[in-house]
Amino acid sequence: MAVPRTAPILVASNRGPVSYALGEDGSLTARRGGGGLVSGLSAIGPDANAVWVCAALGEGDREAARRAGDSHLNPGDTGGQQVRMLDIAPDVFAAAYNGVANSVLWFVHHLLYQTPVEPVFDAEFADQWASYERYNAAFADALAQEAVDEAVVLVQDYHLALVPAMLRERRPDLRIGHFSHTPWAPPDYYRLLPDDVAAGVLRGILGGDRAAFLTERWAGAFADCCAAVLGAEIVRDGDGNGDGSGDGAATAVRFEGRETRLGVHGLGADADFLRQRSRQADVDERLTSLRAQIGPDRKSIVRVDRTELSKNIVRGLLAYRRLLETHPEWRERVVHVAFAYPSRQDLAVYRDYTERVRRLADEINAEYGTDGWTPVALHVKDDFARSLAAYRLADVALVNPIRDGMNLVAKEVPVVSERGCALVLSREAGAYAELGDDALVVNPYDVQATARALDEALRMSDGERADRTKRLAAAATALPPQAWFLAQLRAL
Ligand code: G6P
Repeated sequence: MAVPRTAPILVASNRGPVSYALGEDGSLTARRGGGGLVSGLSAIGPDANAVWVCAALGEGDREAARRAGDSHLNPGDTGGQQVRMLDIAPDVFAAAYNGVANSVLWFVHHLLYQTPVEPVFDAEFADQWASYERYNAAFADALAQEAVDEAVVLVQDYHLALVPAMLRERRPDLRIGHFSHTPWAPPDYYRLLPDDVAAGVLRGILGGDRAAFLTERWAGAFADCCAAVLGAEIVRDGDGNGDGSGDGAATAVRFEGRETRLGVHGLGADADFLRQRSRQADVDERLTSLRAQIGPDRKSIVRVDRTELSKNIVRGLLAYRRLLETHPEWRERVVHVAFAYPSRQDLAVYRDYTERVRRLADEINAEYGTDGWTPVALHVKDDFARSLAAYRLADVALVNPIRDGMNLVAKEVPVVSERGCALVLSREAGAYAELGDDALVVNPYDVQATARALDEALRMSDGERADRTKRLAAAATALPPQAWFLAQLRAL
């Protein structure tokens, strides 16, 4: 039986707030996820009748989705949240998620291609794009079915770029917003995409009433792409008469008789959650063992990332190696604690990258290590409690992505840090817009400059580190997840 139209607020994202493992006996075990959206949505309370629509990602999810049919998942599994999980055919899902979203749109927005040989848009890609359209249509159908009249729908990220326009076609009464959690590519790079895809993605998002981003820079790049690819008109701050005279930030895009407003909401760290969670016993335990691993009287340079190509872990290791080479006084006196948690291992290029990170860490340890000192402590097994322990003790945090929508690690470290932590931050991370003043800012490609910044960070006085950390923490928590979520709802 289909679910009746009951939801006044809907969220749509590829990955939902829960995932299922399928046991050999056919039993399903639910595991709840964290992250900004999960805590953001909690701001509206359990009585609001909000529905979250997401995709089934693996076999367990698919089984759970099949058992639920057109209804919601068992609320016992979701913490009371109403979740509709879409059972999308595995080949369609794989083509949409791995083929288009992660191998193409993600690469474009993070400028990851080695352009002399890639991308290649061939017949296989055309099929994948058709799957991406079907996958987006499945979301639009489910949302159209669940939403009450004039409901508000918040569509998340590059996986679902076509949903706003598809949903408007089905339900013109709805108020639809799209939020991009990634950077947005500048027009020259964005135009690597086949013309119909480049235009399709923009038209898809412009089908909503509002398109929102993590920083003004990404919103501006989106507007620039709309102008360059679609010939759309951009409304700018200071453009009081709408005569195109404003030269401030882009505030809306006009295209084919409609106007889509642009918004910026810089998702912040969840201070209450982090402070409380990082004081729990499992974090204390890991703190003790990390301290033992680093050794007494040594400083630590900490990084925490998924092994994601955009995170620039390899150049981070090269910079650390350069530091040991040019500043022998740091040998035996510092440990680089690098957490590189596997991600998207279905893609060969991610597996290769993970291998490269491991090899380089081994090389540095072989080159500089001594009986009592291992220069790089690399951990690849995902462990949130251990990440928090590392945030607590870090003297220096290294956040050097090639490009990043925001980067929440940069915002979480100052909140959790116990004695203050110097932040070495890439100017290409969205977080730079808010944290740039009190971080040591680097060009992520410049390994020499990053090595110098690491040295400066290690030398920073206790007082200065503590002062900067205090200001960083204030900036990092300006818009916690709940306020971030409510701001988007209000704006719609
Ligand atoms: C990061 C990005 C998000 C993206 C997510 C997907 O968190 O900032 O923009 O939605 O990765 O990751 P996944 O593991 O689901 O592919």
